[in-house]
Amino acid sequence: MNIYPRLFDEIRPHWKLLVGSLGFSVLMAAMEMVPASLTRPLIDDAIYGKDWPLLKMLAMSLMVALIFRTISHWARMIFTGLLAHRVLYQVRTKLYEHLQSLSLSFYQNKRTGQIMSRVTNDVAVLEQFIVEGIRESAVNVLRVVIIVAILFHTNWQLTLLTLIPTVPLIWFTRLFQKRIGVSYRQMRRRLADMNSILSDTIGGIRVVQIFGQEEFEAEKFRTKGREFAAAGNATQSMQALYMPSVALAFGAGQVIVWLYGGHEVLQNRLSPGALVMFSGYVSQFYAPVQTLANSANLFANTSASAERIYEILDTEPDIRSQEEPKPMPEMQGSIDLENVSFGYDSSENSIEGLNLHIEPGQMVGLVGPSGSGKSTLVSLITRFYDVKDGAVKIDGHDIREVDLKDLRSNISVVPQEAYLFHGTIRDNIAYGRPDAPFEDVMEAARGANAHDFIMRLSDGYDTHVGERGTKLSGGERQRISIARAILDNPRILILDEATSAVDTESEVAIQTALDRLMLGRTTLAIAHRLSTVKNADKLVVMEQGRIVEEGTHDELITLEDGLYKRLVEMQTKLGSEEAE
Ligand SMILES: Nc1ncnc2c1ncn2[C@@H]1O[C@H](COP(=O)(O)OP(=O)(O)OP(=O)(O)O)[C@@H](O)[C@H]1O
Ligand SMILES: [Mg+2]
Repeated sequence: MNIYPRLFDEIRPHWKLLVGSLGFSVLMAAMEMVPASLTRPLIDDAIYGKDWPLLKMLAMSLMVALIFRTISHWARMIFTGLLAHRVLYQVRTKLYEHLQSLSLSFYQNKRTGQIMSRVTNDVAVLEQFIVEGIRESAVNVLRVVIIVAILFHTNWQLTLLTLIPTVPLIWFTRLFQKRIGVSYRQMRRRLADMNSILSDTIGGIRVVQIFGQEEFEAEKFRTKGREFAAAGNATQSMQALYMPSVALAFGAGQVIVWLYGGHEVLQNRLSPGALVMFSGYVSQFYAPVQTLANSANLFANTSASAERIYEILDTEPDIRSQEEPKPMPEMQGSIDLENVSFGYDSSENSIEGLNLHIEPGQMVGLVGPSGSGKSTLVSLITRFYDVKDGAVKIDGHDIREVDLKDLRSNISVVPQEAYLFHGTIRDNIAYGRPDAPFEDVMEAARGANAHDFIMRLSDGYDTHVGERGTKLSGGERQRISIARAILDNPRILILDEATSAVDTESEVAIQTALDRLMLGRTTLAIAHRLSTVKNADKLVVMEQGRIVEEGTHDELITLEDGLYKRLVEMQTKLGSEEAE
């Protein structure tokens, strides 16, 4: 894939900065050549000619060139910096926005560390591309051409001789870059490995410590660290060989100039001034050649990073609104699943031929053994995944036809694992309605039976919850999550084990809150503790991706050999044993 046209598309909107950057670079390169070009008249005419006014004039010219060089040096850095960082900003933001639109299935097949490194490291490579790839390459080609032209004009035999060291220089640089590229890639991979170990074990530090696996994790980290160090050493020793060798080539070029050029001067075929000028240009000549020889490597690096970036940008979300979606601003809240089948991968279906009808405003309890597909069913209603077969309909509309935003803005989910964001309690409750008045936030917290514990915290609603809410207890997190749903005031409310992490006393309190919350809206409550959904208008019992029983508690409890009856009996037995 040729990604360069696309990269230039990113740069095009900032073409003025690019022109500024290139323009000042050319000016700077030109000013860099002035001192060498003045050496000939300085030595031959002013010094040997004992011409003091000319000497002053030439010195003035040198100073002017120096000032212009300084100004253009400053300006080109400003322009290039602005250009690079605008492009980085634009690409990063585009990536992040696109990531937000991608479906769950994308995230389940990628490691967080990988995605993060694309947004941070790979985008950073573009800066190098703009600075070295575009700006320096353009200017270096110009430098080399101009210098070679001047040298040839002065003395073509000497020029050919001084070009000799460029052959090994180019060859050696390309070889070096190929080798060192391998080590750099190795280092990047090891760094990514160390990052994933870090994020994994910091997130799970309690598990690490309680199972006494510090040494095991440290050894994993040390192994990657050693490999990183080895790759780092390899690059260092290559650099150690390369840098002095380059200096050797440069030096050899100068030796040739002085030896052959000096001989020419002795033969009176070249003036001393011309020789000094020659030497000055030669010293400015090798560095751009070296950079140009290196650019193949730079372009390869850029391609690799850009490909990783565009791989994400080109991933279409599986789930999105169709071209002209049906608007659904006023949702009533009836839910229909018609012959729905779904599987996370091609092998096995987690939901199989499922039919379900829920009336607007109904409260439905969803029960069944672990892994029977309850959470999966919920993910289909919120359209985190699309069904493989059949259809999910809300108010009679296939949810694939309605605007995804309308659909989700009418549904709230209190998930199995409450997820809080870094920030205050207030921000977390108001997550779905950031402009909600504080009164409403408190009202929602009261409804979730969270207000009292929040008021006991030192900063009340302004208390920071820590990353993922780790400064709160599991039950507290869950109540914040319920308050968030209450404040959102959805038409359809989905509770996935909403009271699983709270004690019996809070559960009773939350249950009353939930009862209040459920009034007037369609509610689907998943529960392991069957007592919490006993009063549901309808109970749906799932087993292995199918609905096996449906009815009220009173109906299901009378079914001989029914799954629900068995589950209730087991829980009652456990309950009474606990009570004893
Ligand atoms: N992201 C996923 N990728 C692949 N398989 C999955 C995924 N999520 C769930 N499954 C599988 O789908 C099946 C149903 O899972 P689901 O989470 O819906 O069960 P559940 O009824 O909610 O269970 P629990 O009561 O334990 O929460 C399980 O066999 C599970 O292993
Ligand atoms: Mg579940």
